[in-house]
Amino acid sequence: MTAREQADPCTLVIFGGAGDLSRRKLIPAIYYLAEQKLLPEGFVLLAVARDPGDDASYRKLMREAMATSDEIRKVDEGVWQWLCARTHYATGEFSDEATYAAVAKRLDEIEGSTPDADKNRLFYLAIPPSVFEMTVQHLTMSGLAKRTESYEARPWSRIVIEKPFGRSLESARELNRLVLGCFGEHQVYRIDHYLAKETVQNILVFRFANTIFEPLWNNRWISHVQITAAETVGVETRGKYYEEAGIIRDMFQNHLLQLLTLSALEPPSAITADAVRDEKVKVLRAVRPLLADGEQNIVRAQYAAGTAGGKTVPAYRSESDIAAGSITPTFAAMRVFIDNWRWKGVPFFLRSGKRLAKRTSEIAVQFKAPPLFLFDQKTAEEMAPSLLVMRIQPDEGISFRLHVKTPGAVHELTPGLEFTPVDMDFSYAESFGNEAHPAYETLLLDCMIGDPTLFTRSDEVEMAWSLIDPVLQDWENNPVKEIPTYAAGSWGPSEADALIAKDSAAWR
Ligand code: NDP
Ligand code: BG6
Repeated sequence: MTAREQADPCTLVIFGGAGDLSRRKLIPAIYYLAEQKLLPEGFVLLAVARDPGDDASYRKLMREAMATSDEIRKVDEGVWQWLCARTHYATGEFSDEATYAAVAKRLDEIEGSTPDADKNRLFYLAIPPSVFEMTVQHLTMSGLAKRTESYEARPWSRIVIEKPFGRSLESARELNRLVLGCFGEHQVYRIDHYLAKETVQNILVFRFANTIFEPLWNNRWISHVQITAAETVGVETRGKYYEEAGIIRDMFQNHLLQLLTLSALEPPSAITADAVRDEKVKVLRAVRPLLADGEQNIVRAQYAAGTAGGKTVPAYRSESDIAAGSITPTFAAMRVFIDNWRWKGVPFFLRSGKRLAKRTSEIAVQFKAPPLFLFDQKTAEEMAPSLLVMRIQPDEGISFRLHVKTPGAVHELTPGLEFTPVDMDFSYAESFGNEAHPAYETLLLDCMIGDPTLFTRSDEVEMAWSLIDPVLQDWENNPVKEIPTYAAGSWGPSEADALIAKDSAAWR
């Protein structure tokens, strides 16, 4: 039996069980876990939401969600029946005490004959960030969730909090204070689903299981790193949320900074939750403040009308629930320096946006040009120095560009030594088939097992905010009427290319 099979019997209580996240990510993940027999026999699901309904109507919603999920190819009737029998629904408004009394009553009925030590409860807050605090308070005041002093205590209560964790440093601190006043850190699982992507976890394996790269992983051999998370989708139905969040809170404070820390961290003493998280926090501490030295390190922009998937799509400002003159950025590029021994002087470019030309997330590590050009190339650009690309999604894999002699080609000055860049390529799909686990499957299972490695710790979240917050405050204190735009379906504004080009003289 592997560690992944040892989930404790538990009741998963999803607050917001009828919302977008639940329908698109959590329900398919639960089905997958059931299909792979990774859920314990004593697993029960109680979804709680505002919509009136009962067990039968929720099971119908679940089935519909599974039918429209990209992640489920075919629903197995036996697995569905197993899951159905364990699925329940309670309705209520989260600000109302009566909801928690009703949930407690349902839990008593559902868990009725379960031995006390197995009455473990996993509370998943799949709800808007504006109701996190209220729900956490009600959960503990009502006695539904209990603080435990140690990880070993049984039965356990754990709480899963979705991103974004706070909307500023101060609010993240407040939320941490509140949550840690009610629960021990060992009970709290702060989600960043990027951490559970196979390819993100593979960054550590790639770096620390292959000795050949680590000696090169520093400012001596690497000229710059580009971390990209590009999406083709727009804001879809999440206009209200996005107007409050924007790209910086939605993608940078969490996913992009996680990719940065994993790419740059020092080797941890062990692959344990705390050892890895300690190293990630050290990277964040070494990041030079983004507004330091008066240089422009950030570009923001918003998508204008354009095309996506061959269709004309509207500008961000014309999407539903978006203010007519909104200046919420849907794209940003950042130039980040990590002022430590390993990375001093190496720019890390972080870039993310909605409605870009292609859906792709990757980390591109650009090595330096050779110290002497022996083959008559004039610039590093002509040379196109070695490039390592870790493809996070889609087409998960790793490629390494290197130079080989072009067969037969004869160069005027270096006869017979003309070269061509070629890619060595590893593809997950080709090597392992299409079996990448959806991130939420991994995360849910880890919560039931009690493994916090892929979740963010309170100090990590606060450090990430302390980098981002000054930028958001600066924007708030110096309001502008317009920000640059880019056509939907393009690669973003020209200002972002200019930001990257700024350092390129040093790479020649
Ligand atoms: P939705 O608004 O789609 O769903 C939220 C759910 O919570 C709905 O069922 C809603 O009910 C319910 N709800 C909200 N307020 C209350 C209340 N006061 N009382 C009772 N029920 C309430 O949001 P999402 O599912 O998109 O997002 C949930 C969380 O997940 C957020 O923190 C988000 O940032 C995070 N997240 C979402 C992702 C996604 O792709 N959707 C991706 C990553 C993170 P009602 O419909 O009646 O309002
Ligand atoms: C979520 C953001 O955290 O990540 C969304 O809220 C974004 O706006 C999504 O679309 C991207 O996730 P993925 O797994 O599709 O890259």
